[in-house]
Amino acid sequence: MRFRVRPVARLRGACEVPGDKSVSHRAALLGALADGATEVHGCLEAEDCLRTLAAVQALGADVTRKGPGHYRIVGVGRDGLQEPGDVVDCGNSGTTARLLLGVLAGQPFWTMLTGDESLRRRPMGRVAEPLARMGATIVGRKDATRLPLAVKGLRPLRALAHTSPVASAQVKSAILLAGLFADGPVSLTEPARSRDHSERMLRQFGARLSVEGTTITLTPGELRAATVQVPGDISSAAFLLVAGVIVRDARVTVRRVGVNPTRMGLLDVLGAMGAALETEGGDAGEEGEPTASLTVSASPLLATAIAGALVPRLIDEVPALAVAAAVAHGVTTIADAAELRVKESDRIAALARELARMGVHVEERPDGMAIAGPQRFRGARVSSGGDHRVAMALAVAGLVADGETVVDDTACVATSFPQFAETLNALAGGSAIVVEDA
Ligand code: S3P
Repeated sequence: MRFRVRPVARLRGACEVPGDKSVSHRAALLGALADGATEVHGCLEAEDCLRTLAAVQALGADVTRKGPGHYRIVGVGRDGLQEPGDVVDCGNSGTTARLLLGVLAGQPFWTMLTGDESLRRRPMGRVAEPLARMGATIVGRKDATRLPLAVKGLRPLRALAHTSPVASAQVKSAILLAGLFADGPVSLTEPARSRDHSERMLRQFGARLSVEGTTITLTPGELRAATVQVPGDISSAAFLLVAGVIVRDARVTVRRVGVNPTRMGLLDVLGAMGAALETEGGDAGEEGEPTASLTVSASPLLATAIAGALVPRLIDEVPALAVAAAVAHGVTTIADAAELRVKESDRIAALARELARMGVHVEERPDGMAIAGPQRFRGARVSSGGDHRVAMALAVAGLVADGETVVDDTACVATSFPQFAETLNALAGGSAIVVEDA
């Protein structure tokens, strides 16, 4: 599949984005482990989350789709998961693989996990190593650091106080999920606060959890079913919001977007760059997820510096932000973001390579990039390299390019935002993005 993108002068209107990917994964997993029936509303029906739903079904949970985004998951309780009859394929989804490893570390049976070509390249040792210290047996490629992996859990697991070298919500969540099956409290310390959806949802499902600075401690226990309202995904909204800032005549509202403070780096950065941005709503609680309506208007942008604790709060938004940085005045720098190299693709290399084809120079650095602006995007033939967020970022760049842009390899957009082209076209009032079969 490919996108043929035409430049647009105007982008107007209000829209919604599909459910938050991170929250949807967690609802499926906690629902499966809980006692009773969990109702999930607004669940993301994109490939990544469908992988997690299929995985929990393979492990014995009963999943019924009751309507668009509405799922009923009858949990099997903490001791009820069953050995799956086949290899569990996590597709492109790092969250599925890593969080499942945490759950499987506590199961007294063997499970085999694999994934697509991209996922089989991504590091799993950051999760497998601490889980092995808790007592799980994990074997597989590259010394049990790459999928396919086979896992056999232990009951109970040994309690652990783990200090993660990376600020990763996937590592944190895997350890906390394994902690449900441990013989004592399990704690995880991270170098900076990563997204806290697991902490919020575990509490909502009745888990005992305490947070002190960047250390989270979970006391093992049972989970009880809950009703989960999944907010719209800020990481999908990011592409529409950046488009709504850089297109010449734009005013775009995205309704019901999750505005969890640990995910809000994009809004902080757009604000610092001078974007006209209005937020309505957004009450936060300790459990559940706050939502708000976000409105942006076309704005001249100034360069900014992104580093440190801000990085985990916007890690998935860097492809969209790189496009904004290219049209901003001054040199935007992104540092402390080496994690970008082990996402669905090496996003630093991918952005430098593909934006160069559009005539935009990105200085690649080991842990980030520097982009001197303003530069003009030239319509060109580019490729996502199979990475959904690179695909959508390139399409947004195409909206403000001189001439037509063709983005190849865009089927991957279905992993997180299948309605991306349709949503942008509605805002553009025409077909800015034509989806073609390759
Ligand atoms: C995710 C966490 C982030 C993010 C990924 C989803 C999650 O990764 O990049 O898209 O759902 O926990 P890390 O926090 O592991 O870097």
